Amino acid sequence: SHIAITELLKGTVAVDSQVTVKGWIRTRRDSKAGISFLAVHDGSCFNPIQAVVPNSLNNYDEVTNLTAGCSVSVTGKLVESQGQGQAFEIQADTVEVIGLVENPDTYPMAAKRHSIEFLREHAHLRPRTNVIGAVTRVRNCLSQAIHRFFHERGYMWISTPIITASDCEGAGEMFRVSTLDMQNLPLTDKGDIDYAEDFFGKEAFLTVSGQLNGETYASAMSKIYTFGPTFRAENSNTSRHLAEFWMVEPEVAFADLEDIASLAEDMLKYVFKAVLDERRDDMEFFAQRIEKTAISRLEEFVEKDFAQVDYTDAITILENCGKKFEFPVEWGVDLQSEHERYLAEEHFKAPVVIKNYPRDIKAFYMRQNEDGKTVAAMDVVAPGIGEIIGGSQREERLDVLDARLEEMGLHKEDYSWYRDLRKYGTVPHSGFGLGFERLVAYVTGMGNVRDVIAFPRTKGNANY
Ligand code: 4AD
Ligand code: MG
Repeated sequence: SHIAITELLKGTVAVDSQVTVKGWIRTRRDSKAGISFLAVHDGSCFNPIQAVVPNSLNNYDEVTNLTAGCSVSVTGKLVESQGQGQAFEIQADTVEVIGLVENPDTYPMAAKRHSIEFLREHAHLRPRTNVIGAVTRVRNCLSQAIHRFFHERGYMWISTPIITASDCEGAGEMFRVSTLDMQNLPLTDKGDIDYAEDFFGKEAFLTVSGQLNGETYASAMSKIYTFGPTFRAENSNTSRHLAEFWMVEPEVAFADLEDIASLAEDMLKYVFKAVLDERRDDMEFFAQRIEKTAISRLEEFVEKDFAQVDYTDAITILENCGKKFEFPVEWGVDLQSEHERYLAEEHFKAPVVIKNYPRDIKAFYMRQNEDGKTVAAMDVVAPGIGEIIGGSQREERLDVLDARLEEMGLHKEDYSWYRDLRKYGTVPHSGFGLGFERLVAYVTGMGNVRDVIAFPRTKGNANY
């Protein structure tokens, strides 16, 4: 049996033990004195382990022909390393070659730096690189920390459906799910597509958010969260938008806007601390190679209180800041990324919770404030990334909800199960959605959400 390289580099295995590691060659260097140095990685931590291979091995010639990407099993003695840069190395007794790289000259991941765009086009091989390996470990650390955070606070993880008939956000960005034959669509008398003949008997879509389903469980279990894939047919070709992304959506009964604003702050601080504690190796790499402040800004984030500002006051700040924006600001407009970033980066110089947005730019489910003009919504906006969380208190009053549905031209019948929650033991409740890829992109300093998800789906790209 073999051991993960991270265990060896941690220093928990006794020096002089006999160990076996299995992994892939990152680099090979041969000395004139008849020793070959193999850097072997297995994905378990940032650093590879060095295997020192003497020419007394009977397959030494085979070893000195190994190239980046070859897979090997190395057995030998774990010793303290004399060389720079690593604490331990293996004095190899045997090197078993498991898989060779055919045509090393054309192996796309041969050890040299690649542009991030090149790596995107080789999504099946890019996890072998330093950078995507580090992203993958940090992403995993963040997922685990999120589950731990909610678990420690008594939240239940609910898996909400991926296929649904409801458009939670009402933005018309849903992907249709259908088994209908597009060449020979069944049509009704009026010429409409007859979804009665479709698999689900009605139009069905990939979900844009688990929130509405989440509300049903919060209305019984009190505190729940979802963590799953969501889908949006976003036409925006930006570094912050994916067609398939993961969302974390807590939903809390007996909670108002202030309560979930604090929950969002606590959660972000908790997961950032986890990354700083658990993934120093990867974060040091990001700070060196990707974003100078990758570590320092997380440390600052964990220390600082979030700022809070009402949308109305935010508009006043933006109107009077003397800065020329591409999108002009006035009360009633939705904040653009340039506005959010100005507030977080230049005005407050901290993460900001922007609250109480105009009702006309927000979804039907948000709770109306007494002023009749705004809803109890919030966005969390962070320096360097912009909107990372969107949430709200939900409208728990049936009459107000019904009036809102009608005003927005939505059909009551389509929301009968959602309305039932307001009929049977309704309670004030609130929740938010965290865009998980935006979080990972922020933490790692990777500029683009496409590089923090294994196989990004964007307009024109569903490869792999
Ligand atoms: O602000 P949004 O649209 O809010 C909702 O969907 C609510 N139903 C959430 C809730 O209250 N339970 O989306 C939430 C977050 C955004 O703040 C953003 O971080 C992320 O999801 N997001 C995207 N991330 C990547 N690609 C996209 N196309 C995204 N659209 C939203
Ligand atoms: Mg939003």
